[in-house]
Formats: sequence, C-alpha cells, structure tokens
Amino acid sequence: MAGRKGDGQEKRKASLVFMKNLKKTDPQIYNLIKKEIERQKDGLVLIASENYASPAVLSAMATPLSNKYSEGYPGKRYYSGNKFIDKIESIGIERAKRLFKAEHANLQPHSGAQANAAVYLALVGSGEKILGFDLSCGGHLTHGSKVNFSGKIYNFSYYGVNRKTELIDFKEVRRAALKFRPKLILASTTSYSRKLDFKKFREIADEVKAYLMADIAHIAGLVIAGLHPQPFPYCDVVTTTTHKTLRGPRGGLILSKIKDRLNPKEKTLAQKIDSGVFPGIQGGPLEHVIAAKAVCLKEAMNPSFKKYQKQVILNGKIMADEFLKQGLKVISNGTDNHLMVIDVSSFGDSKIIQDELGKVGLYINRNAIPFDTRPPYNPSGVRIGSPAITTRGLKEKEARQVARLMSELIKNINSQKIKKQIKSEVRKIVKRFPIYEDFQW
Ligand SMILES: Cc1ncc(COP(=O)(O)O)c(C=O)c1O
Repeated sequence: MAGRKGDGQEKRKASLVFMKNLKKTDPQIYNLIKKEIERQKDGLVLIASENYASPAVLSAMATPLSNKYSEGYPGKRYYSGNKFIDKIESIGIERAKRLFKAEHANLQPHSGAQANAAVYLALVGSGEKILGFDLSCGGHLTHGSKVNFSGKIYNFSYYGVNRKTELIDFKEVRRAALKFRPKLILASTTSYSRKLDFKKFREIADEVKAYLMADIAHIAGLVIAGLHPQPFPYCDVVTTTTHKTLRGPRGGLILSKIKDRLNPKEKTLAQKIDSGVFPGIQGGPLEHVIAAKAVCLKEAMNPSFKKYQKQVILNGKIMADEFLKQGLKVISNGTDNHLMVIDVSSFGDSKIIQDELGKVGLYINRNAIPFDTRPPYNPSGVRIGSPAITTRGLKEKEARQVARLMSELIKNINSQKIKKQIKSEVRKIVKRFPIYEDFQW
C-alpha cells in the first residue's frame, strides 16, 4: 500500500467499488466520507490506539458478507447458508491461534469492550471480585470504571504503579491480591508504556486461585512480532482489539486455553468463553469484519510485519527521548512499546493542547497520569503513539522531528506564529509520507 514503504505492503491500485454506488445514492454521506479520508491522509495520527488498515482489510469489510446471519460458530449455526462463512471464520480462528500461540480463539467480539464483557460474563458472577490496573495508571474504562458496565456489575479493586518509578510494583499487586482475593486478575493496560511480566502475574494468580486475563488490545502487534513477552502459557484468557498495533479492522478477539484449570469439572474454558460471546452478550457476528480480521492476521504472518513493529518501538523510543530533551515529563522516563504518556500540566490545559495540536494536523488524545488529581475529562496528561506514523513510513529522523514539533507547540500554546510554522512543517511531512496514495475512493 502506498505510504507503507519498508513494511512490505504491496503497492497497488485498489478501489472500493461500492463507493461509486454510494456517490449516486447518498452524496451527502459520500462527501463526508471523502472529507474524513482526506483528513486522515492530511494529518499525522499520534493517537496510540489508531492505525491505517490496508486496502485488503478495508475491501473485505465492504462486501456482502455483511448481509449474512451466522449466529453460532462454524459447523453449529442457527441459520442455513453458512458454508463459505464457516470456512472464512475457521481460517481466521486458525490464524489467530497460530499467531498468539493460543489453544482457542473467538473472532466474534464486535469490539475490545465486547471481548472484555464476554470474558467477565463467562468467568465472574455479578458482584464478584476482579482485580484490575488503576485507570489513572493506565487501565482501561472496561477494567472497572464506575461509569462503565464493568464497574457497575462487578466488584473491582485495583493495583497501581510505584509513585517514584511509575512502574507496576509486583509487591503491591501481590498485596492487593492477597487482601482482595479476586476471582479474576487483569494484567491489562491502555496507556502503560512498559513491558508486562505475565509470569509474575500468574504466580500471584496461582497464590490466590484466580483466573488471569491479559487485555493486550494495544500491544497485540508487538506480542505477535515477539517484541513483547507472550501472555501464553501464563494467562487463562487474552483479549485484544484488532485495529491498533495489529492494524486490522475495528473489532475484538478472544484467545484462551481450552481447559479450565480452576474448575476442571465444569464446562471447558473455551466453551465458557464462546457462550460468553454468543449467546451471552452478542447476537449475529459481523462476518464481513471477521473476514477482515482473517486478512489482517494473514498480513501479520508476513516477515515485514515484524520489521514494522520493530520500527514502531524504535520510533516510540526516539520520540520519548526527544520529549525528555525538550524538557517534557514523560511518565516512567520513556517507553518499551508503541506509546508514552506526557504530563503537560505545567504547560496548560490538556484539552486545549489536544485541540491545538489537532488544528495543525497532529492528532493525539488527552490522558490521565498516575495519581492524577484532575478529572478524566480534563486530565493532566496526553498520550502519544507511534503505530500510525510508522505505517506511513516515518523513521527515526522524522519521529524525532515530529516530537520536536509537538514539544514546540506544547511549550508555546498561545503563539499563533509558531502554530503556523508547525502546520506548514506537518504539511511537508504528510506529503513526503503519503497514505492510501493509489487507493481510489
Ligand atoms: C486495553 C483496551 N481494552 C479495550 C479497549 C476497548 O476497545 P473498543 O474501543 O474496540 O471497544 C481499548 C480501547 O482503546 C483498550 O485500550
């Protein structure tokens, strides 16, 4: 794909045929889609959870597979006519198992939140205990936020990071687990920039006889590429999204062991997970998205995928280094993965910083920092990620330049002159590193 120089994506002309029909039927929506595509092409996405899916992935989604009802699983559907759908979903399942070294895979969760909901439903009763990662330290909304179903239905307690090092402190995890005695422990993060030690989590889970779940929504691509410790064999269940570092369609995925090691006489863990998804929390699966998930998993088997993930980490490290050089406070002083969180509280309001960066074509999201005293809507930090700029082809030199431009804007948030200069620099970079260049809409 154009703009993916160096990561092995083939360069070709592609087109979403149905866009032509859309133009005739609904020009209003067609024109807005075109504008959004231009916005994505014309800006640098530094939102750690976003990426550019390939034309092949996008094409699989824009197919009549969307028409099909396929409640159930391959070979066990509630509707007829699933001969080809079964094959597609089975291929995707086998690819997921192979890539994540998992015994069982379920490709049906509509999203990462749905994947987590299905696992909780399968393993934890309403009101029962789950130990998660504190949201201000890097946990996700679905890891027990009071405003989310997870915090409303289940009894959550949290471990956090060490105040000095800003790293997960396993003494604290163990202490929290022994005190709380949860049924499920989450080794799961959405804005934590360091590696997760699943082995240590498992030792603690064993000690308190809890299930262990890793939500690797962010780091899935790094895990597949062998650049982050593997969650299996330590975890019972692993959830992920498919659209972040994995670079597939928007969606969720659950991987698990087959046997239930805590309750061997009950249904298997795999059966529990499958019924947690359907009929537990979902009806008909999105088979067009499942086909696109299978495609992205095939792309992840290409050696170029590992090369891409290596560059993602390298770009992340370079950016963190530059932010530090520019005098910004990077949480835990750096990153081992694709993201970092920066404390911007001494420079201004994080919402204003996010919006001003967006105006010059640098897209980020505001984010809590450990022990944040500010509210989630207006926290003290911003989160920066390297996956999307790396897909465009930016390497170390440009990653440093982007971090420098961002730092300049953050430090001069009221200077119109500097914002104008940065906007023009960003324009030059996006022109040099185009995305979806030959993709006709
Ligand atoms: C760790 C983690 N889990 C779950 C989710 C939810 O995924 P989705 O937005 O697909 O529901 C996210 C989203 O950013 C995430 O970071």
